[in-house]
Amino acid sequence: MTINFILNGEDISISAHAQEKALIVLKQFCGIASLHTDCTSGNCGKCIILLNGYPSNSCLIPAFKLRGTEIITLEGIKQTSNYALITDSILEHHASWCIFCESSRILLLSYILDMPIRPETHLIDSILSSIHCKCLSDTVFREIAYTALEKKEGRINRYANR
Ligand code: FES
Ligand code: FES
Repeated sequence: MTINFILNGEDISISAHAQEKALIVLKQFCGIASLHTDCTSGNCGKCIILLNGYPSNSCLIPAFKLRGTEIITLEGIKQTSNYALITDSILEHHASWCIFCESSRILLLSYILDMPIRPETHLIDSILSSIHCKCLSDTVFREIAYTALEKKEGRINRYANR
């Protein structure tokens, strides 16, 4: 079937089996290199995309559900002002993570930055827990989110200018 959607701001039209996974469609048909495959069952959170603005595990989405949607991947986030805020915040916390979860982590942080009001801690924790990994502490991941939020709200800059 023909599937039309918007990927990182560009109109895409591909031909794929309706039940093909979005993860495969995006990697193999659209050349999205930032996505990684691991559990393929919605558990690890390494294949997250923003689908119509919401974090979604692309390994669980059949291709036909992409029709008419807007998808953002790490490649798209890199074109936004959120990306610099996030990478600066990561550096400030001296944090690092592996290439397999990097894309999902940055997408989740960008999703938090774009929320209309600052989310409460339990909601931030719930969002960030979409990635199952023992390598990085949840506390550090949360602190990166707070630092990025403060940068976006201008609080750090205002403080620095006093
Ligand atoms: S590969 Fe999609 S959640 Fe693990
Ligand atoms: S899975 Fe990437 S740092 Fe743990």
